[in-house]
Amino acid sequence: MSRVAIVTGGTRGIGEAISLALKDMGYTVAANYAGNEEKAKAFSDATGIASFKWDVGDHQACLDGCAAVTEALGPVDIVVNNAGITRDGVLAKMSFDDWNEVMRINLGGCFNMAKATFGGMRERGWGRIVNIGSINGQAGQYGQVNYAAAKSGIHGFTKALAQEGAKVGVTVNAIAPGYIDTDMVAAVPAPVLEKIVAKIPVGRLGQASEIARGVAFFCSEEGGFVTGSTLSINGGQHMY
Ligand code: CAA
Repeated sequence: MSRVAIVTGGTRGIGEAISLALKDMGYTVAANYAGNEEKAKAFSDATGIASFKWDVGDHQACLDGCAAVTEALGPVDIVVNNAGITRDGVLAKMSFDDWNEVMRINLGGCFNMAKATFGGMRERGWGRIVNIGSINGQAGQYGQVNYAAAKSGIHGFTKALAQEGAKVGVTVNAIAPGYIDTDMVAAVPAPVLEKIVAKIPVGRLGQASEIARGVAFFCSEEGGFVTGSTLSINGGQHMY
């Protein structure tokens, strides 16, 4: 029986590319999504990858969602915490809700998913957790105190959980994507985005598949000696 992987936010954008890459490796993939039913259905119809709806920021929903995946597909050995949102704005204009939703979903989602799956991985002596951080969690970004804090938190979370997983066969790693050609980045006002792209040494936005390639490496059998690591995939925009 092939190993089961959950990709949160796995039906769109970077998550969609990750779901496809893990399927290509022979894993059985469950793609979690929160809202866009139409896109999730189209994704599942096109790829044969099952999609499961829950809010990763909701602790109980994660426990229930992971139990449903286990029931349908088998025990979960791989989790990719990819789901995330932006609520950009300068601090003066940022509401508490903008702060809290980004922390709840982007950072809280990692905790909730780990609580739901880490124990099983530990018992079976094998697991892979990959958390999608961000260049903006490493370097900060104007108008993103919420997102930068949550993503920076993800990098700390990764290194802390990696220490707990190391002796029990569970690796925990992070990817720090730069600006990738997705709906999230397309939402940045065009003149702002132009200035950002001008600062990327490679001279273009990244592709979702270029992030998925890194995730696939962390999730492979051969990746067992790599843990607590952060792989920056950002076209040279921030060399860290
Ligand atoms: N550094 C310094 N000053 C800046 C600045 C920067 N990077 N960006 C804007 N400013 C200045 C502007 O020049 C302007 O100054 P003046 O008033 O003196 O002209 C002032 O700040 C206000 O700028 P805006 O007109 O842009 O303000 P706004 O309130 O309309 O918008 C914003 C603010 C929403 C933060 C907007 O600038 C924005 O969307 N920025 C992009 C944020 C970003 O990169 N988000 C990434 C989303 S994708 C993602 O996060 C994925 C990932 O992991 C990489």
